[in-house]
Amino acid sequence: PRKLAIATGGGDCPGLNAVIRAVVLRAHAAGLEVLGVEDGLNGLLEGTGATVRALTPVEVAPILGRGGTVLGTTNRCSPFAWRDPDGLPRDRGDELLARARELGIDVLINVGGDGSQAISLELERRGLAVIGVPKTIDNDLDATVETFGFGTAVQVVTDALDRLRTTAESHDRTMILEVMGRHAGWIALHSGIAGGADVILIPELPYTPAHVARDLQRTLAGGRHFALVVVAEGCTCVGGEVTQRPVASGRLGPSTILGGAGQRVAEEIAAIVPELELRVTALGHIQRGGTPTAYDRLLASRLGVEAVEAALRGERSVLVSSQPPDIRTVPLELAVKKMRAVDPQGQLVAHARGLGISFGDA
Ligand code: F6P
Repeated sequence: PRKLAIATGGGDCPGLNAVIRAVVLRAHAAGLEVLGVEDGLNGLLEGTGATVRALTPVEVAPILGRGGTVLGTTNRCSPFAWRDPDGLPRDRGDELLARARELGIDVLINVGGDGSQAISLELERRGLAVIGVPKTIDNDLDATVETFGFGTAVQVVTDALDRLRTTAESHDRTMILEVMGRHAGWIALHSGIAGGADVILIPELPYTPAHVARDLQRTLAGGRHFALVVVAEGCTCVGGEVTQRPVASGRLGPSTILGGAGQRVAEEIAAIVPELELRVTALGHIQRGGTPTAYDRLLASRLGVEAVEAALRGERSVLVSSQPPDIRTVPLELAVKKMRAVDPQGQLVAHARGLGISFGDA
């Protein structure tokens, strides 16, 4: 290849800029040009206001630790189901491909989650070589052992728990912290363990309010006067209605509705133990903004370098995947095939239980 393009799609995620920087540095060292596509893939479509520009090592030098993406906005628009403000969905995929050919793009490096990689697969099917880079703070992609941005989110939540603990102690309160995780409880579980939670509620382990209330009472009966509860936004109650809300298309995403799952759990507990003084915090997009941790920068940088290496080897339709201690390539289809959920019988949950953490499930 002579010319690569890079795009960032889906929700933003700390580490996107580290991937962009790594791709540009490695590609330039190999004598390749890199075009940055703005606003997801919109930069390749006329009339979107987004554009495509050459990225140079000088331009990317300062962006390693910066949150968000330097490529405009990340968005979840699909070129195959394009919606004009007033129109029906229309397929702009071939238009996008024609533009990519016109620009001389040999390989597109598409950084994104399962939605973006479904778009990658369709672009491949129509003739554009694509290499995917997995991205989600939720850490729920089965095709890779870990995703960048996740560790940063866990750190943010752990810091929040440290802060909530001191104010909880000062008022003898039970603090409920709602965190991201529509389908998987990885953020809640990792940060709950790291931040000393007493109860963690995740989608994979439906809870019963009576068990949560009982376990909180046990915690407080043992001489403690405060408690910390971490609630994943997609957690569900046994037999209860699934309260996950659809994401992306609407104006209200799950995390924009302050106190969704957290508020619900608080009301359920209050109905059983009215004497508990409860407070709810919904952390929302604070988990996604800001500077990535050192580890996420490292992971994102390695994925970026390996994406270029894969292009140089002539690979296409692959996803770069973290398989510690290495970064390898796997078939792109794997990115959209299977989500990775927390294993309720697995060691991580067992270790949490070993620490006395309740999941409110039994
Ligand atoms: O998938 C990443 C994620 O941050 C989820 O954890 C969360 O449910 C969702 O995106 C929020 O989406 P939005 O930014 O559209 O509100």
